[in-house]
Amino acid sequence: MIDPARKMDLLVSLAKRRGFIYPGSEIYGGFANSWDYGPYGSELKKNIKDAWWTRFVTGRADVVGVETPIIMNPRAWEASGHLETFSDPLVDCKKCKKRFRADHLLEEAGRDVKGLDMTGIACPDCGGELTDIRHFNLMFKTFIGVTEDDKNTAYMRPETAGGMFVAWKNVRDSLHRRLPLGVAQIGKAFRNEITPGNYIFRTREFDQMEIEYFVKPADAPAAFDAWLNEMKRWCEDVLKLDPKNVEYVEISEEERAFYSARTVDVEYKYPFGQKELYGLANRTDYDLSKHQEFSKENLTYLDPDTNERFIPFVIEPTWGLDRTVLAVLIEHLDIDEASTSEGDKEPRMVLRLPPRLAPVKAAVLPLQKKEDLVTIAESLASDLRSAGIAAEYDASASIGKRYRRQDEIGTPWCITVDQDSLQDQAVTIRDRDTMEQERVAVSDVRGWIEERLTS
Ligand code: GAP
Repeated sequence: MIDPARKMDLLVSLAKRRGFIYPGSEIYGGFANSWDYGPYGSELKKNIKDAWWTRFVTGRADVVGVETPIIMNPRAWEASGHLETFSDPLVDCKKCKKRFRADHLLEEAGRDVKGLDMTGIACPDCGGELTDIRHFNLMFKTFIGVTEDDKNTAYMRPETAGGMFVAWKNVRDSLHRRLPLGVAQIGKAFRNEITPGNYIFRTREFDQMEIEYFVKPADAPAAFDAWLNEMKRWCEDVLKLDPKNVEYVEISEEERAFYSARTVDVEYKYPFGQKELYGLANRTDYDLSKHQEFSKENLTYLDPDTNERFIPFVIEPTWGLDRTVLAVLIEHLDIDEASTSEGDKEPRMVLRLPPRLAPVKAAVLPLQKKEDLVTIAESLASDLRSAGIAAEYDASASIGKRYRRQDEIGTPWCITVDQDSLQDQAVTIRDRDTMEQERVAVSDVRGWIEERLTS
C-alpha cells in the first residue's frame, strides 16, 4: 500500500515523464493550474469520451447529442441565474493576505456551511483575522467585437448544460421524439476558480460530459434512480474503479440548490481526500421555465397520449472529464515487482488501465534489432494500426527497459518478435497484469487483441 501523498507525487512525475500531462505554458515559466495533455494523456481522454458517447448517446435510443457554442447570448446566463448567483464566497486574511473560500474553511472546521456564519474562524495559515465575505462571480467575461463595453460583454460558459436547455426547442421541433429524451454534450467549461489546485482536479478550464434528460414530471424520481444506477455501472464497468473508493452522497435539502428536488454527489477517494467526481440532480422544471420566461418562447411539451402540455422536468447526470482522468490514473497506478534479466527483483510502476481506455493497446518489440525481426515487427504494428488498434513499434533499448516503459504507459499487451518467429511465424504476447506469456500466430494477433478489447 503506497502512502497517498507519495502516490500523487509518483503519478505527477510519471505523467510528465511519459507524456500524459505536462505543466501548461512551461517554456514561459508555467501558468498556474493549467495543464497540457500530452500524446498519451489526450489519447486516454479521448478513449474516455468515446466510451461515454458510445454508452450514453449512440448506444441509447432515448439520448441524442448536440454541440453548442462556448460563448452564447448573455441573456441565457441571466435566465439561468448564473450572472446573479454563480459566485464563490471569499475571505482574505488581513495579516498574511491569503485568500480562501469561506465555505471550504467552514467545511474544514466541521461547521455548517449553510448561512456562511464565519464566527470564530481565523486564517488557517497564520491565525490572522479574516475580512467579511465577498461574493465573486466565477464566469469569465469577454467582449464581442472591437468595443469593450457592457453592451458587448459576453461570457465563457461555466457549464455545458446551458447550451442544451437553449437548444431544447430546436431539438424538440426537429426530432418530434417522445419523452423521455436526453440531450447530451461533451465540451469545455470555464470557471474563474479562486482556489484551483490538486493537479487537474480543480482548474479554470475543464471538460464536462453532461446529459439533460427531459421527462414527464411524474417520471422524474424513477429516471433519477435509473441514472444513479447508470453512473454506478459506468464507474465499475468502464472505469473499473473499486466500489470501495466511490461514495454516493445524498445531499440534504438544506444543502442542495433551491430548485433541486434531489441531488446525489458521486465522490471519489482521491489521495488528497474524498471529493466530488460527478453529480446527479433532479432540476425539476426550473431551467426550462426560466428560459421560457426570459426568451418568451414556448418551451413546453405536448404529450401526444394525453394532449396535456407541460414543461418537462430534467434529470441531469454530469461527469467531469478531467476528474475522471485523475481518478482513473490514481486508481490504476500500481507498484509491484518484476524480475530483471539477472533474475533479481526490482520495483516496477505499472498503470493497470482498463484495456479499452489504455492509450496504447499493443507494443510490438523485436527482441534484437536484426533486419528480419524488425521487418516482421514493423509490419505487425502497421497492420494493427490499420485495423484501428493503437499500436507502437519500439526497438530502442533493452527488452527489460522497453517493458518498463510500456508498463508505465499502461499498455496491456507487449508483443515480442524473436528468432523463433522466423520459423514458426508466431510471436509472444505478454500480459501486463498477469505477466503471463502466450505464443500466438502473427496472423491471429489482431483477432486475439480485438477479442480481449470487446470482452
Ligand atoms: N451542470 C451542472 C454542473 O455543472 P457542477 O457540479 O458545477 O455541476 C459538474 O460541475 C462536474 O464538472 C463536477 O462534478 C466536476 O466533475 C466537474 N468540475 C466542476 N468544476 C470543475 C473544475 N474547476 N475543474 C475540473 N472539473 C470541474
